Amino acid sequence: MAHLFSNTFNTHRRKIEMGKNSKSIKNIAILCSGGDAPGMNCAIRAAVRSAIFKGIKVWGIKKGYQGLINGDFHPLNRQSVGNILHRGGTILLSSRCPEFTQKKYRQKAYDNLIKNDIQGLVIIGGNGSLTGAYTFFKEFNFPVVGIPGSIDNDIYGTDYSIGFNTAVETAVEAIDRIRDTAFSHERNFLVEVMGRKSPAIALEVGVCTGAENIILPQEKIDYEKIVRDIERGTKRGKKSSIIIVAEGNQTGISYEIQNKLLKNYNLHSHVCILGHILRGGSPSAQDRFIASQMGSLSINQILTSKTPSYIVYAKNEFSSKHIRYAKKDHNKTDKKILDLIAKLSI
Ligand code: F6P
Repeated sequence: MAHLFSNTFNTHRRKIEMGKNSKSIKNIAILCSGGDAPGMNCAIRAAVRSAIFKGIKVWGIKKGYQGLINGDFHPLNRQSVGNILHRGGTILLSSRCPEFTQKKYRQKAYDNLIKNDIQGLVIIGGNGSLTGAYTFFKEFNFPVVGIPGSIDNDIYGTDYSIGFNTAVETAVEAIDRIRDTAFSHERNFLVEVMGRKSPAIALEVGVCTGAENIILPQEKIDYEKIVRDIERGTKRGKKSSIIIVAEGNQTGISYEIQNKLLKNYNLHSHVCILGHILRGGSPSAQDRFIASQMGSLSINQILTSKTPSYIVYAKNEFSSKHIRYAKKDHNKTDKKILDLIAKLSI
């Protein structure tokens, strides 16, 4: 496994200095924030046990930043994280917490950490959650380390975020089943997958299920092309098709597409929304493997790094990045994958 590098970024230091002396860190806390993702439990387990291994006490915070604000802290020991490796969701529960965008609530969160004698915070979550951690660090200079956890795989600087592989596997299994019935009834299906801004699930699932077309999040829908592609297939004897729709910011957008296809082009289709099914379920081996390593590395990082950071997995190596990068947009559509789908669905 690759080594984590330490960064030389300089910040003004206040009460607790990051990585100043690992001996000064006696208690850490861990939370999950934003949309849950399969594999979060593996990261929690690894972080808790790696910390205990180094003689550090761990506190679990319930419901993400909400629990940090409300002081919902619970001691965790090695048994508390037993038998969770295979479980989806997060034993710590998660939430989206708009309050954390306000200074007065972040101050409450900080006060709770100090009150409980906690010197470091591990945050498992997506880009919004990691960006919240950066704001928190800037205000209080409180040591934070992020672990990328999101089925959307859209966190800048890392090729992988925990949960993505399981979500793709779940979608592929579901769509294989839909293919069977689509074939038997000679139907077109619009299958909706998650991805508010991120095209990642739709693209990978599209390739793996031989989709005829992909509708990307928040992009203009080219109805003419969808119809043209389906008609081309029909001409050469194809009688069913699968179109993957990324939900974008409108869950259920597939029904709108279905209506337009019928009204304007007399093209019949069925809709299946996979939605939150993709967020649940037992994590894949890949998610367990990566999450376990990231969880453990987060403890090394909080003990040794002088900067607030998040663990990344890029070019087959683990390392860390300054947490300020987490807010950078990382939702570009890989044109090569789109071309591949077009080529393979002729
Ligand atoms: O976690 C990210 C995500 O999975 C997006 O793909 C999706 O649009 C969103 O969560 C749904 O979030 P919620 O469960 O809060 O509706």
